[in-house]
Amino acid sequence: MKNKVCVVTGANAGLGFETAKALASQGAKVVLLSRSADKGREALDLIHSATGNEALELMTVDLSSQASIREVGHNILQKYGVVDSLVNNAGTWISKFSLTEDGVETMFAVNHLAYVLMSHVLYPGLQKSEDGRIVCVASNSHYQTKLHLDDLNLTHKYHGLRAYAQSKLANIGFVYELHARKTEQNIGAYAISPGLVKTDIGVKHTNFLHALAWKIRRSGGVSPAEGARCQIFCASDPAAKGQSGLYWENAQPRKSSKETHLRERTSNLWDQCLEMCKIDDFFVKV
Ligand SMILES: NC(=O)c1ccc[n+]([C@@H]2O[C@H](COP(=O)([O-])OP(=O)(O)OC[C@H]3O[C@@H](n4cnc5c(N)ncnc54)[C@H](OP(=O)(O)O)[C@@H]3O)[C@@H](O)[C@H]2O)c1
Repeated sequence: MKNKVCVVTGANAGLGFETAKALASQGAKVVLLSRSADKGREALDLIHSATGNEALELMTVDLSSQASIREVGHNILQKYGVVDSLVNNAGTWISKFSLTEDGVETMFAVNHLAYVLMSHVLYPGLQKSEDGRIVCVASNSHYQTKLHLDDLNLTHKYHGLRAYAQSKLANIGFVYELHARKTEQNIGAYAISPGLVKTDIGVKHTNFLHALAWKIRRSGGVSPAEGARCQIFCASDPAAKGQSGLYWENAQPRKSSKETHLRERTSNLWDQCLEMCKIDDFFVKV
């Protein structure tokens, strides 16, 4: 990974922090994307002192804002030109229904549309890599739901668990569609499950009961360093090269739900997401 350019979203905490640290320890140039400049700076300093890697850069982004994603994506392309690995990792768990400035339900926006839009904006950089990788951190919670294609915002029947699971199912559908539609052999798309990991995702924006349930549930999970292994593998390991269009867990392909393999549904999802992100041509060359 020496001198390869890696972009990690949600790099200030949990799985994203461990991923950025591991890529930095392999000698990559790592762009850490963080919502908060302070938390991002703290993470960068920790990674710097742990790895000695000087090629770390912090950029701030609010992944609930499409304007913010486009801006940071353009800045990355302008500065680095090439992108070797994009790890779409950032995610959130919100109990209460809310809409973003773009009119999208917030969990769908951050957990899924941000993956689609960031991948699109950085695509010209990935095309320039010999081994470009787009890794999308999904979840086994996708087995519990289906896509609500007539109401992706879940305006009629919102529940935090349903919205979270749908966003993670959408991640896998996106990776499969991307794999089926792309023409470049040098770009791989990977969906991964980190398993159950002891992070704060379920306590940041949840109500008392949901936070309590998460604290109990996560006690059976693994550490963020252990949980991040699969996404690090897909983002950097030579053994994952060319193994595009699969769902991974523990660095092994795993069968995803039946719904993720229904092309008419994932294709409908793809079209709706592109429209929501105002993307005319996902694969546009610049
Ligand atoms: N933990 C698990 O058991 C588990 C299981 C399956 C899948 N996952 C997935 O793993 C990924 C990482 O989650 P985690 O468990 O490591 O949680 P985490 O520790 O809460 O990390 C999530 C990261 O996403 C960032 N983020 C959230 N909303 C954002 C926004 N609007 N703009 C920019 N950044 C934003 C967070 O920033 P702040 O620190 O500012 O909030 C944080 O850096 C998520 O996609 C999650 O769905 C986790």
